Order: sequence, then structure tokens, then C-alpha cells
Amino acid sequence: MKKILKWTAIVLGGLIGLALLTGLVLYPSGKEKLSRSYPNIPVEKVNIPNDSAAVSDGRHIAIIWGCTKCHGEALSGMLLTDDPLLGTIPATNLTSGNGGIGGSYADVDWIRAIRHGVKPDGRVEIFMNDYSTMSDQNLGDLIAYLKQIPQVNTNYPAMQYGPIVPLAPVVGIYTPAAELMDHSATRSADPAPGATLGYGKYLFAICTECHSATLAGKLENWRQEDFVRALRTGVLPNGKPINPAMSSKTFSEMNDTELIALWLYLQSLPPLNSRK
Ligand code: HEC
Ligand code: HEC
Repeated sequence: MKKILKWTAIVLGGLIGLALLTGLVLYPSGKEKLSRSYPNIPVEKVNIPNDSAAVSDGRHIAIIWGCTKCHGEALSGMLLTDDPLLGTIPATNLTSGNGGIGGSYADVDWIRAIRHGVKPDGRVEIFMNDYSTMSDQNLGDLIAYLKQIPQVNTNYPAMQYGPIVPLAPVVGIYTPAAELMDHSATRSADPAPGATLGYGKYLFAICTECHSATLAGKLENWRQEDFVRALRTGVLPNGKPINPAMSSKTFSEMNDTELIALWLYLQSLPPLNSRK
């Protein structure tokens, strides 16, 4: 009995120590990462067209790169969570309606926000994905589209992240995109769009939010048609539905060229068991 008490005390003591360590060391360091400011990053020039073909390509980009998943179909934003642990997290209204940022954004602000994950005032966007690899062409078309989406008025509560959020960057679960990239790195030339391995590698950035290259190991015995059908319709080769995380419009919107390019890239990766 005494022994159990002793162990309970050790475990409890350990937990309290851990909680203190978390509070005193990890928490402020995480908070610092979330409130970091990058006021003077160089923002490259990107050509932003305004013809209707560019706008329609931009709409496609907004869907396949997942902008509409968080900012909504009309890109007028949405409340992503409102709970005591995660906090109140709205994805910004991107239109120029009331409560939206569209009206106040110059081209340079769009480029900085999407490519660098940094707001006009220099603060990091906490919950945005890393879009730094998006090509100039795709980014230009995307911004062309965003600049002309219809106004929607919204009134979301202010962002207030919950108590567990600052722990995420410290333990490596999640770090704001702006913290992960070299903001002044020289960019490589845009990849040529096409049903090619190289273009598939470029598009795979859309998948890395959830998948590593090990995805290739899951596609043994798949044919190209199986892959295209699974992403387009959400049905796996065995007839079962694909994971709900994968059944969003993001994937059904992808065209044959994009899906075949992704397939070629995934096929080119070494099989799972030969990797260490
Ligand atoms: C995982 C959800 C998510 C995805 C996907 C996403 N965003 Fe965001 N975005 C947010 C949230 C949340 C914010 C609010 C700012 C923050 O995170 O601190 C934001 C902020 C922004 C801002 C800055 C607005 C401001 O407050 O100044 C822009 C511009 C933006 N997003 C555009 C996009 C575009 C374009 C895409 C697609 C390429 C995209 N977002 C994809 C969640 C997302
Ligand atoms: C929002 C997270 C998310 C994104 C983004 C994502 N996936 Fe998935 N995907 C999943 C989950 C979860 C599963 C089911 C579990 C698993 O197989 O890893 C899955 C399963 C799959 C499967 C089926 C594997 C099987 O045998 O069941 C394929 C194929 C696939 N994903 C391809 C892709 C491709 C290609 C992309 C990028 C264009 C992508 N995914 C982007 C979350 C995602």
C-alpha cells in the first residue's frame, strides 16, 4: 500500500513538474512564435492579369489548393472553431464586403499574405497553410480571381486562440507557415503545366498538408484509372468510399492533366519497403 502511495506521489509530482515546465517555458515560447512579426520581408512582383481566362483559372486554383475549404465557397470566410481549448478562430472574409479584407488589399498585400503567410501589418497568419511553392502564374490567376469575387458582409468574432494552441509550435505539431520558410530565397522558374512527373511533384504540395511521400506505398496494384476515379469521385478501387478528408471538392475539381501528373509523380517514388 505504502509503495503505491509512493508511486502515486512520484507520478503526481512528475505531472505537476511537467505542467510547470509547460507553463513557464514552452507556453511563452510557443506564444512568441504565434505573435512573431515580419514587417520588412521582400515581396516579389507577380504579374496579376485581369482577363476572364485568368479569373476562371484562379477560381480553379482557389478550389484545388483548398482556399474554399476554410474560407468557404464564396470566400467570405467562416468560423473554423469556437471551443474552449482551441479558441475562436475565424477564417477571414476575403471579399470587399463589410468585415472583409478585399477592399483594403493592394496586390502586394495579396502576394505577401498568400505566398509568405504574413499580414499587411507584418504579423504572421497563424492558421494558414504554406503556399510558398505556388507558381507565379497560379498565384497571379488566383489573385485575379480574388480581386473580383462578389462582396459579402460578415461579422465574425475576433480571433482568440485557446490555451492549447501555443503548445502546438513548441512540440512540433503545427507551426505557422511564415515561420517555416526562407522569405528571401530565390525562386525557381514556374513549372510547365502538363501531365508530367515534374508537374505532379509541384502539385503534390497540395497533398503534403496530410500525406508524406509514403502515400505512394498505398497505391500498389492501383492503375492510373483507379487513382483518377478515387480522387474524382471518392470511390476506392475496392468500391469503398475514400476517407472523408479526401472527398472534398478540392479533389473532384482536379482535371485529368493534374490527376495524371500526380499519379506519375507518385509512381516515380521508390516503393515503401525500400525506404528507411
Ligand atoms: C486551414 C484553413 C485555411 C486554408 C486552407 C486557407 N486559409 Fe487563408 N486564412 C485562414 C485563417 C484562419 C486566417 C486568419 C488569419 C490567421 O490565420 O491568423 C486566414 C487568413 C488569410 C488571409 C489574410 C487575411 C487577413 O486577415 O489579413 C488571406 C489573404 C488568405 N487567408 C487567403 C487564403 C488563400 C488565397 C488560400 C488558398 C490558397 C487560403 N487562404 C487557404 C485559414 C485558411
Ligand atoms: C486534409 C487532409 C488530406 C489532404 C490535403 C489529402 N489527403 Fe489523401 N487522404 C487523407 C486521409 C486521412 C486518407 C485516409 C488515410 C490514409 O490512407 O492515409 C487519405 C487517403 C488517400 C488515398 C487513398 C489511400 C487508400 O488506400 O485508402 C489517396 C489515393 C490519397 N489520399 C491521395 C491524395 C492526394 C493525391 C492528395 C493531394 C492532391 C491528397 N490525398 C491530399 C487526407 C488527405
